[in-house]
Amino acid sequence: MGVEGEKRLAAARAVDLVDAGMTVGLGTGSTAAHAIRLLGRRVREGLAVRGVPTSEASAALARTEGIPLAGLNEVERVHLAIDGADEVDPQKRCIKGGGGALLREKIVASAADRFVVVVDSGKTVARLGAFALPVEVVPFAREQVRRRMLALGASVDLRGGAGRPFVTDEGNSILDCSFGAIADASALAARLDAVPGIVEHGLFIDIADDVIVGRGNSARFME
Ligand code: 5RP
Repeated sequence: MGVEGEKRLAAARAVDLVDAGMTVGLGTGSTAAHAIRLLGRRVREGLAVRGVPTSEASAALARTEGIPLAGLNEVERVHLAIDGADEVDPQKRCIKGGGGALLREKIVASAADRFVVVVDSGKTVARLGAFALPVEVVPFAREQVRRRMLALGASVDLRGGAGRPFVTDEGNSILDCSFGAIADASALAARLDAVPGIVEHGLFIDIADDVIVGRGNSARFME
C-alpha cells in the first residue's frame, strides 16, 4: 500500500468514529480530504452530521460531498475533529500547517471534545523538527518575527517568497522555520506563544487525543 493508501486507511478509521448527530471538525490537507470524502459518502447514505471546516478549501470539498456545514461561531460544541499532520512524535505532539491552515486547525482541534490525527507511516518521527515549523504572522510584524526566529536558531523562509507571499485564510503570512531536531517542543511552543505578531504556530502540544497511523495494509491507534 502506498502513501495515499495509508492516508486513506487512517482517515477511514477516524471516520468510523463519527456517530449520528455529531458536529465534526474537518481538517485540511490530502489526508483530511480523504476523511471528508469518506464522511461525505456516509452522509449520502443517510448519516446526519454537520462539519466545521478548517479552511476554505476543505469547506469547498465538503460542500461538493454534500456535508452540511456550520461556522465555529454557530456551534456550541465540536464532538470530534479529524485532521492530518506533517510530523507526529511518540507523545502525540505534532507539527501542522504544511497546508497553511494551522490557525483555524488549532482553534477547531482545541475546541473539540476529541481531536484525532490521521497520518501515513512516513509522518511518525522520534523527535519533531525535520519538517520546517510553520509560523503564522500578521504581515505588519513579518520581518520582526523573522529576526526573532533567526535569533532562536532557525533558518526562515517566507512561504511563497517575497514576490508573492502565501496568504492564509485569515489574511496572514507564514514563515517556515527550520529548527532541525527540536530538543524541547513544549518549551519552544511556549516561547513562540509569547512573541507579539505571531498569530499561531504549528506545534500542537497536548492537543491530539488520538493518532491513527496508516501503515501498509492497516491503520492503528498510536499507543
Ligand atoms: C494543513 C495541515 C495538514 O494537515 C498537514 O500539512 C498534512 O497534510 P497532508 O495530509 O496533505 O500530508 O496541517 O495545514
